[in-house]
Order: sequence, then C-alpha cells, then structure tokens
Amino acid sequence: MASHIDTYQDFPEPGVLFRDITPLLRDPESFHAVIGHWSAILPEQVDLVVGVEARGFVLGAPLAYEMGAGFIPARKAGKLPGAPRSISYDLEYGSAQIEIAVDALPRGARVVVVDDLLATGGTAAATIELVRRFDVELLGVSFLLELEGLGGRDRLPADVPVVTVESVPN
Ligand code: PRP
Ligand code: MG
Repeated sequence: MASHIDTYQDFPEPGVLFRDITPLLRDPESFHAVIGHWSAILPEQVDLVVGVEARGFVLGAPLAYEMGAGFIPARKAGKLPGAPRSISYDLEYGSAQIEIAVDALPRGARVVVVDDLLATGGTAAATIELVRRFDVELLGVSFLLELEGLGGRDRLPADVPVVTVESVPN
C-alpha cells in the first residue's frame, strides 16, 4: 500500500513531508482492496463514520458504505448551516477550525472517527474532543497512514482505540 502513497518534501511548508494519497485513489484495484481490508479491521457494530474534511471524506465515505454505516462530515469552518458545534486546533502547519452539525450524531450512536493521516495528532485529537460533546459511544479513531515519530498517538486520549492500516516512519 505504501507504494501507492507519494511523498513530497517541503510541502506545503519547509520541513513538512507531504503524503499524497491520490495514486491510491486512482488505482481501482488497490483502492477497493484497501477499503475492504480497512472495514474488516474496524469494529463491526459501527453506526456512523465521522470523516474529517477533506481527505477524510474521500476515504471515510467509501469506508462507511462498505461497512453498512452512515457518514457524517466533520467540516472546516463556515461550511455547515445552522449552529454547528465547533472546535479550533493546531495543525502541523497553521491552525484550523472544525465543525459538526448539531443534530448529526444521535444519542448512543456508535461512532468511529476516520482520516487519511495521523501526523502530529492535532486534527484527530480535536475531532475526538468535538465528537465527545455529543452523547455517543466513540468506538475508535482510524487512519490509513500513521506517521511515526511525530508524537501523534501520544496526543490522542488513551481510552480511545486507534486502528491504523499502515504505519510508516516520517
Ligand atoms: C492533513 C491530513 C490530516 C491532518 C494530519 O489535513 O489530511 O487531516 O493533516 O495532521 P495532524 O495529525 O498533524 O493534525 P489538512 O488539514 O492538511 O487538510 P486536507 O485534509 O483538507 O487536505
Ligand atoms: Mg486532512
């Protein structure tokens, strides 16, 4: 699978190794195989997959579909109508804000948070904190790729199971 992820040095900022998942997405066989494998290593009883904009949408939606679960978008600021619940967080480069519609996660729903990448863990930690403001059962957080050596896992709450498809040194 790592052969389908390209790495770019110093993008979008000096010192950052950018991981590009688009080679995986454009290879139908590998894309299908990864989603199939990923859905098999997650808990069976998931009701809703929360995918983080933007790359968490591209992977989270097919994953939810494959698992027979629903999909909830965690969106960047200003994209959701109504009065969404919102949280700010620091990125490997810059800072951002993420939002979930106030009625998106019903009480007791069994939820998994999904994204393409665990780097510093800022995005996932914030999304977990936001999801926990809803009265749901958080079954875990899951990534296609975990970058080792950036301390991402240590930033996540210890009581939330982490499922990664593949770990690579950063
Ligand atoms: C990237 C990546 C993860 C996050 C990982 O998203 O897709 O969501 O950074 O980094 P972290 O563990 O250090 O928080 P980014 O916000 O760059 O935007 P995108 O998904 O919209 O491309
Ligand atoms: Mg992202």
